[in-house]
Amino acid sequence: MQATASLNHPAASTSVSDTYNYKIVRQFAVMTVVWGIVGMLVGVIIAAQLIWPDLTMGIPFLSYGRLRPLHTNAVIFAFGGSALFATSYYVVQRTCQTRLLSDGLAALTFWGWQVIIVLAAITLPLGFTSGKEYAELEWPIDILIAVVWVAYAIVFFGTIMKRRTQHIYVANWFYGAFIITVAVLHIVNSAAMPAEVLKSYSAYSGVQDAMIQWWYGHNAVGFFLTAGFLGIMYYFVPKQAERPVYSYRLSVVHFWALIFTYMWAGPHHLHYTALPDWAQSLGMIFSLVLLAPSWGGMINGIMTLSGAWHKLRDDPILKFLIVSLSFYGMSTFEGPMMSIKTVNSLAHYTDWVVGHVHSGALGWVAFISIGAMYYLIPRVFGLRQMYSVPLISLHFWIATLGVVLYIASMWIAGVMQGLMWRAVNTDGTLTYTFAESVKASYPYWTIRLIGGVMFFSGMLIMAYNVFKTVSAGKAYDAPIPQDLPAGSTPMPAFAKAASPAQGD
Ligand code: HEM
Ligand code: HEM
Repeated sequence: MQATASLNHPAASTSVSDTYNYKIVRQFAVMTVVWGIVGMLVGVIIAAQLIWPDLTMGIPFLSYGRLRPLHTNAVIFAFGGSALFATSYYVVQRTCQTRLLSDGLAALTFWGWQVIIVLAAITLPLGFTSGKEYAELEWPIDILIAVVWVAYAIVFFGTIMKRRTQHIYVANWFYGAFIITVAVLHIVNSAAMPAEVLKSYSAYSGVQDAMIQWWYGHNAVGFFLTAGFLGIMYYFVPKQAERPVYSYRLSVVHFWALIFTYMWAGPHHLHYTALPDWAQSLGMIFSLVLLAPSWGGMINGIMTLSGAWHKLRDDPILKFLIVSLSFYGMSTFEGPMMSIKTVNSLAHYTDWVVGHVHSGALGWVAFISIGAMYYLIPRVFGLRQMYSVPLISLHFWIATLGVVLYIASMWIAGVMQGLMWRAVNTDGTLTYTFAESVKASYPYWTIRLIGGVMFFSGMLIMAYNVFKTVSAGKAYDAPIPQDLPAGSTPMPAFAKAASPAQGD
């Protein structure tokens, strides 16, 4: 086990305004681990239910249909959301060299977000749902989400406005786009007519409702599950690698190309539906174009390791960060391929989509969040590193094997299901019944469960390591550097070498 050396604590006389607000970062960072465990446990339970449908003995609030949205909400908004809040509050303060705009509003976002998560955990199992995927929560909770989100935007952009640096570091651009876009998506897609306290009807109907829903759904992927996490990449990869961003210019092109293109790709979720054919084709083309900015970003992240590849050998945090980028590259190659209409006619409704989702969700989103938490948690508890580096390594390997088992089994199951469903005999009748395809899927669902249990076990190892780290450290708010040179610092030191100003 490694010793956990502590950081220099600010002098007792230092006033609050001379330090960063790390309290909010500590709160969200710890909850990232807690909600990660809860959400993934529910994932493991539903994976088991697909093998043993009677597992939860017919109890309605533990049925598959109610636990599935609980899983998606818990992992995306509670786990992923907490990681985004924690890292964005940390990054915006450090790169703007100033304290958050308002400690009170920041605290409101923390407690408000926790209340929303608890309300989701109560209402979804009870069966209250709007029926819109990834936007299932009913209207009173939706209003609460909008309030918390506006408070988040005020704190984040207010902090940028009072920055003591001239430059707005690129990670903040990604966080900023994520915050603004999620607000717009949420407000537009959740527009509804309340009928009762926990029942409402969408403001849209028919195919318009479907299009708005998947404009929301796909951009939730693009902005909640991607743009914010790219913000994490642009800060934590250079920090952990101790190297400047590979190309600052590429990061700016990456930003504008990505946010422009994502907006148009939603119709790929509605191929072969009542949506007009031209809209489906438009969605397909933009999805194919999306490969370019996605890979531009991935290359920028991975190449940041140029000259420091050797660090990958024995730094498990860097392994988490860099492998997450490989999964990002993989899922953003797979996505455009699946959006081609002929490919989608095979993949749609099958486990291939579930495999794609989890190569993005586990391989990219969870890996980069875990890597960032291992970097951040010791620092906000006054320590230089986690309690145990070998345990981080163990977590890395068990999680990597878990993801590989999960996604490989889903690919095989998905393609098999697609082929079985479309197989026809010479007389035009179907070769297989649907039940036969379900039966053939059992071995793969079992392998997925094993992979899921491994990934979940990794989270338990992380929880132990975090508990020991937090116990060894104490609440620490780093002092804000006071000696800024005249004319202010153009950008954080680790980004300087690759900055456009230096001719990159
Ligand atoms: C231990 C880890 C996990 C396990 C065992 C797991 C398991 C599952 C299962 C069994 C399903 C339902 C699949 C189906 O309906 O056929 C599912 C759906 C889903 N999970 Fe996970 N999951 C895990 C982690 C995560 C994480 C970390 C995220 C996001 C950050 C995530 C996002 C999703 C999403 C978005 C869906 C819906 C997919 C769709 O509708 O196509 N999961 N998960
Ligand atoms: C260039 C980037 C991407 C493109 C073009 C893309 C495209 C697609 C396509 C075509 C589908 C299947 C739709 C269907 O047949 O139902 C899909 C599903 C999905 N993708 Fe991606 N994908 C991309 C990246 C990602 C990433 C990075 C993630 C996660 C972090 C992700 C998460 C999802 C989810 C959650 C679904 C399932 C939606 C649902 O039906 O519930 N995608 N994507």
